[in-house]
Amino acid sequence: MRAWVVRGDGEPRDVFRMEDVAEPSADLLAEAKMDLAGWVVDPTVLGVDDPDERALFERRRAAIAARPFYEDWVMLRVGVAALGLPDVTMARGTYPVRVARPYISGQEAVGEVIDAPPERRHLVGRRVVAVTMQPWGGLAPVSVGIGPVFEVPDGMSDADAAGFVIPAHTGYHVAIRRGKVRAGETVVVLGAAGGLGSAMVQLAAAHGAEVIAVVGHEAKRAHATSLGAHHVAVHDGGDVADAVRSVIGSAPVHVVLDPVQGSMGPQSRRLLEPDGRWVLCGHAGGLAPIDPSFYMSNHTLVGATLGGYSRDVMRAMDAETQAAVMALWHAGKFRPVTTEQIDFAEVPDALTAMGERRTLGRVVVRIDDQSSGTANPSGMLCT
Ligand SMILES: NC(=O)c1ccc[n+]([C@@H]2O[C@H](COP(=O)([O-])OP(=O)(O)OC[C@H]3O[C@@H](n4cnc5c(N)ncnc54)[C@H](OP(=O)(O)O)[C@@H]3O)[C@@H](O)[C@H]2O)c1
Repeated sequence: MRAWVVRGDGEPRDVFRMEDVAEPSADLLAEAKMDLAGWVVDPTVLGVDDPDERALFERRRAAIAARPFYEDWVMLRVGVAALGLPDVTMARGTYPVRVARPYISGQEAVGEVIDAPPERRHLVGRRVVAVTMQPWGGLAPVSVGIGPVFEVPDGMSDADAAGFVIPAHTGYHVAIRRGKVRAGETVVVLGAAGGLGSAMVQLAAAHGAEVIAVVGHEAKRAHATSLGAHHVAVHDGGDVADAVRSVIGSAPVHVVLDPVQGSMGPQSRRLLEPDGRWVLCGHAGGLAPIDPSFYMSNHTLVGATLGGYSRDVMRAMDAETQAAVMALWHAGKFRPVTTEQIDFAEVPDALTAMGERRTLGRVVVRIDDQSSGTANPSGMLCT
């Protein structure tokens, strides 16, 4: 199959190659395990016999020796896949964990289930949205969905569904479950016009918070306002706290939702009241060490990422989150964050735009217009 494959380290335009690679097979998946960087598979499976990649594989394999084989997968014929900043940072080598080369990029997709392990055989033929992990990312005609899969609900297009799960589920986990945003609180959202940020603005507003969306340029204001932000602060590359202060005055805020870090995260902490929560959920602006004198401010540092829980806890959280975000979607209080559809050939240019902070919400990629899986009106977790 023809897929977007990454081999070296660098900018997407330099390291993304459209290549012929073998499709994943059920035999291979039946005896494969996972870690935070994806499937732990021998690099020769993707046609590479590189000593560094082999050494990385051996280290990862040893670290997860006690884990069981990963069983919660489905093979997907991909219809639409979404782009996210991890497609850029993984390629640059700045993602928090090293992703083994070569890999197919892409973190989530919509498609028809074409194969599954015995306990998930009933999903074959269904049209679902699923998270995909390296080396079998979603930017390929055939990919592997992992963990919970959700049927695309009636009334939601494949383009909207493709970019729904990671922003909505992460956003809910960050803002509501871990960040505990409550009605009446003031909440600053950094990177508010991005994929995750666009979801968090809506979720915080839907839970009754007063939301200040922080964006880099005036051109992003309308998008942030359309998400339900009560105020928009445009930083234009300057100090984020100053930009917010110029909009809301000197009153301290209760929460900062931060998918950016870099220099913006620490700047934004100046906005918090004592006991205010700084909720770290990403690294779009770079990973930055936390100042050890942090404790002097009586702020609460909250880490939030979707993963790292046991399988049963994760399943319960996924079901709770999907029910909550679908209820908001049905009530018109949450919409998918897809803003643009592109063709398969345009992926490197679109990722360049994302790395240069020129995209809004989620950009999705049409891969196969022939997807014919059956739909289900609920949009609920498939078990
Ligand atoms: N915790 C989790 O489970 C989880 C899940 C999904 C994603 N994430 C992380 O969340 C972050 C955002 O992901 P995303 O897909 O939403 O990204 P995105 O759509 O590209 O949005 C990121 C936003 O961050 C801002 N930004 C500030 N400095 C930047 C820089 N140097 N490069 C790029 N953007 C910069 C940009 O806003 P302005 O230019 O307007 O300021 C941009 O709109 C990533 O670090 C990703 O890995 C975490």
